Amino acid sequence: MPNSPPPCRVLFVCLGNICRSPAAEIIFTKLVCDAGRKQDFVVDSAGTIGHHQGSSPDARMSDALKRKGYSIHGNARKIEAEDLENFDLIVTMDESNFSDVKALDKTGIYHSKVHPFVSYCHSHDDPRVPDPYYGEQRGFDHVIALLEDGCGGILKSLGIG
Ligand code: 4NP
Repeated sequence: MPNSPPPCRVLFVCLGNICRSPAAEIIFTKLVCDAGRKQDFVVDSAGTIGHHQGSSPDARMSDALKRKGYSIHGNARKIEAEDLENFDLIVTMDESNFSDVKALDKTGIYHSKVHPFVSYCHSHDDPRVPDPYYGEQRGFDHVIALLEDGCGGILKSLGIG
């Protein structure tokens, strides 16, 4: 076996896993690839509800991402308790996601892996990544701006970029 460290496993979590967290997965994956560090990461996303399981990212989010040059991938899934064990860093979009994810771990031994996404933002001081689902297109563009800021911050926090 090579002596290289294991990949860093990063999971983004929102409510439905069709708007914010798949966009974060797409943006973070591109940053990691652009930095030449694809082999060092496993990147995934999940939702705290299962209503959209198997669905592709929301068309409005996909269109907004494509306009910025991103390629779209991913199918929605619901987060499971095992994800807290299997991932190294779990990044949540808002306060509800944060408490819902931590509630999956009754022992609390994995709570230190769970972090609010906005804590990694440098250019925005929003209290949360807002849910754009019932809003207008500009809400999706604002979410992407937040996600680009915070995804860069995550990489910096890991000593990359
Ligand atoms: P997301 O957005 O949590 O960013 O994926 C939502 C998607 C679906 C619903 C709510 C928010 N929903 O109520 O179905």
